[in-house]
Amino acid sequence: MRPYYQDEFVTIYNGDCRDFIDSLAPFQLVCTDPPYANGTGYDVYLDTDENLRSLVSEVIVKLIGLSSRVVISPGVANIALYPRPTWTLAWISSAGCGSGPWGFCCWQPILVYGKCPYMEVGLGRMPDILMSNERSVDYDHPCPKPLNLWKSVIKRVSANSLCPIFDPFMGSGTTLRAAKDAGRKAIGIDISEKYCEIAAERMSQCVLDLGAQNTMEAGETAYNSRSTQPEQLSLDGVL
Ligand SMILES: C[S@@+](CC[C@H](N)C(=O)[O-])C[C@H]1O[C@@H](n2cnc3c(N)ncnc32)[C@H](O)[C@@H]1O
Repeated sequence: MRPYYQDEFVTIYNGDCRDFIDSLAPFQLVCTDPPYANGTGYDVYLDTDENLRSLVSEVIVKLIGLSSRVVISPGVANIALYPRPTWTLAWISSAGCGSGPWGFCCWQPILVYGKCPYMEVGLGRMPDILMSNERSVDYDHPCPKPLNLWKSVIKRVSANSLCPIFDPFMGSGTTLRAAKDAGRKAIGIDISEKYCEIAAERMSQCVLDLGAQNTMEAGETAYNSRSTQPEQLSLDGVL
């Protein structure tokens, strides 16, 4: 298993995640955003209902058995395709985040499997909703998640833990970027080499984030290990 990209925090593999899970398991925290079976025009993956059902039975069910905590954004229409979660969090977007057969969609479910990280260590009860009207930045991927929203999700499902994060459906690498900005390790996989390249570029960028640690050093490590030039400065995660 040769990484497509690697730096101090992040490892990216290009391929079908089904081929990697056994050798990478077990996982402390899986945080992922699988395809939605709504005909999205991905680079190589065909976004059909049948293919999503295969991913749920062959990947998601397996991950739930191999992980302490699994966090999935399935899309409203697909909730019933997934195993019954321990709980369902909600990302509320009052400005709307899509549309469906009942009009404008103003929320997205986030399925969680495993214990609440705050209650587990005696930190008390936290709300099960996240409010955000943030829009995604265009990374030449059809559906990147908004970065700051995803940082909030990771915080909500981690409490004070800095455990590594696994994202088998990495796309443009939002989970990895959020992890890296928090000084956390993460592994991401995508079946598309194009998306791995986009994610690798995002990892290579130096981030103007006053809350993050070591981002300059991490960016320089990535820069040294790749032939492409990182941007000198990115506001990714700040605005
Ligand atoms: C909804 S997108 C993830 C978007 C991501 N959260 C982001 O912010 O960019 C799902 C991704 O899963 C990838 N994918 C589909 N089947 C896969 C498989 N078997 N193994 C790895 N990646 C896969 C697709 O190429 C797509 O990029």
